[in-house]
Amino acid sequence: MISDKLPKIWYGGDYNPEQWDEATMEEDLRMFKLAGIDVATVNVFSWAKLQPDEDTYRFEGLEAILDRLHREGIRVCLATSTGAHPAWMAKRYPDITRVDYNGMKRKFGGRHNSCPTSPTYRTYAERLASKLAERFKDHPALAAWHISNEYGGYCYCDNCAEAFRVWLRKRYGSLDALNRAWYTAFWGHTLYNWDEIVPPNGLSEEWGGYRTNFQSISLDYRRFQSEALLDCYRLEYDAIKRHTPEVAITTNLMGTYPELDYFAWAKHMDVVSWDSYPSLDTPVSLTAMTHDLMRGLKGGQPFMLMEQTPSQQNWQPYNSLKRPGVMRLWSYQAIAHGADTVMFFQLRRSIGACEKYHGAVIEHVGHEHTRVFRECAELGAELAKLEDKLLDSRISAKAAILYDWENRWAVELSSGPSVALKYVDEVHKYYDALYKQNIPVDLIPVDADLENYDLIVAPVLYMVKPGMADKIDAFVKRGGTFLTTFFSGIVGETDLVTTGGYPGELRPIMGIWAEEIDALFPDASNRIVMKEPFGQLAGAYSCGLLCDLIHSEGAEVLAEYGSDFYKGMPVITRNRRGAGEAWYVASSPEPAFLEGLLGGICRSKGMEPLIAPSEGIEVTERRKGDKTYTFLLNHNAEAGEVKLPERLAGATDLLTGRRFDGVAAIPGRGVLILEK
Ligand code: GLA
Ligand code: ZN
Repeated sequence: MISDKLPKIWYGGDYNPEQWDEATMEEDLRMFKLAGIDVATVNVFSWAKLQPDEDTYRFEGLEAILDRLHREGIRVCLATSTGAHPAWMAKRYPDITRVDYNGMKRKFGGRHNSCPTSPTYRTYAERLASKLAERFKDHPALAAWHISNEYGGYCYCDNCAEAFRVWLRKRYGSLDALNRAWYTAFWGHTLYNWDEIVPPNGLSEEWGGYRTNFQSISLDYRRFQSEALLDCYRLEYDAIKRHTPEVAITTNLMGTYPELDYFAWAKHMDVVSWDSYPSLDTPVSLTAMTHDLMRGLKGGQPFMLMEQTPSQQNWQPYNSLKRPGVMRLWSYQAIAHGADTVMFFQLRRSIGACEKYHGAVIEHVGHEHTRVFRECAELGAELAKLEDKLLDSRISAKAAILYDWENRWAVELSSGPSVALKYVDEVHKYYDALYKQNIPVDLIPVDADLENYDLIVAPVLYMVKPGMADKIDAFVKRGGTFLTTFFSGIVGETDLVTTGGYPGELRPIMGIWAEEIDALFPDASNRIVMKEPFGQLAGAYSCGLLCDLIHSEGAEVLAEYGSDFYKGMPVITRNRRGAGEAWYVASSPEPAFLEGLLGGICRSKGMEPLIAPSEGIEVTERRKGDKTYTFLLNHNAEAGEVKLPERLAGATDLLTGRRFDGVAAIPGRGVLILEK
């Protein structure tokens, strides 16, 4: 449980009463009651108010807010405000502002704007966190800590350059080792002195954000910046822990946000929280996958949905409204994947600056008679009824997808073979295929224990880190099924190619050799021609993006390319090894093929769908003690139904108390949570 002060699914969100007067806050509190809101995230961006100058700290205003919330029974998720530094600080200590990608020294402005190695930032952020913790450690409303806000972005200043050199010395020990790892013999880059090293950006090795001359340098800078920001977080974490060892600490993450290695971050968080902002056209399975990734960060521990909008965003190009019922549906989707909170950005709309048109529970009209408020209040009442039933329940999956931020950096920094190759898209294709068949999936890091799973899918496992190939091999030999794709096993940790034939260290496991890699133009495709039917797969399917030209070295060939000069070469192979098997998918197939392939593999392994699939109806299951909670989420606008398996006979819907047998009908955009 996140806090025993609030033993239910938390309901509330970001709340900024410092932006309005007390009378408005009184109105807010009245409406919070109506909406069943019981938690407020406060103090997210108040550093300038809390610390007007070098020596003054003013906590009375914040204390009054906490006291007032407490009197209404509202718990507080207390932020530390270090997501944006005060203007006076930037003026007095210019080291706190960043140098951007193009080498421009930033002035005061925006947010998420502090240099992560700035001595000023580190000193003052830690001090503020410590003072807040000291002041509010015994406050009865305090239920969780929220450090800073959406850490992100990189800095390229001289302090960061110096800290990068120190980081590199520690990692590589000697300049010789660094020269080897960075392959500096290329383009005459040999380094003779540590101070010759400069950050890779638009002034040096990179352009356009993800193009680089030296992948190894760019990769290390990402590792370094992710760690530097994490160090900032950890300074605050430790300062707070000293005062409140029992209170959970988090910082709000951003799903598949590329720049930070969240698996490394999560090790230092008590509970993962994240901000979910799908747009109207985001595939619901991508949202599901992102929730599963966030759950995977801490090995399946429930997470917090820290932010979502009740209605619309302001920062997307087209900020559509969530259609009636969709906010509720997507809230339950988060819970269905392991969230123990449903929280919004924001509880009341601001009236100035760039977020005034961002949706809120309380809109500019200022009263409760709005569609959005009504929907929020209905959900609040439902969540109250669920009490603590779902809290801490777990999801158990036999299938896992390997997800790795460093691999993503390497894939997307790689110059060639195709600019169209996007790591998250490829991962999502595989996730989607399992999702559509109601097979639960965990997203796991490359250092995870594989032994809990029957099926491991590793899309585009381009970077194989030390020890990984052995681990995968052991998994296969003891009976596991491993699947990887084109452009895998190519490089080691520093992006140096593993010579001797692709897929490098995976070659004996897969029983294939990839001789060449063809990149297809966006409108081009090849075909996957099945040699004989496999499960429901038969005939030919389309594939594209990249085509590895592979030779079998013992693997069975299930399908061949149907066209071009490599027509007849293998495209899908299976290598039986020990008690298990290793599958290679040499191109990027159309969805129908992946559904058939993964469906066939799962069936042959005895991995059954939770419930027989029905188009647009998502199914997940959380378990606690001897109870299972089956979530049925109808993403269609029209009503639908699913056939319940025998094991769910007589299950009761937690939301309506209705008993189900045989078939369950679900209204359009409706939700059932069947308890059994
Ligand atoms: C992020 C931030 C919030 C707010 C929302 C708007 O998630 O954390 O402060 O800006 O976006 O969608
Ligand atoms: Zn910097």
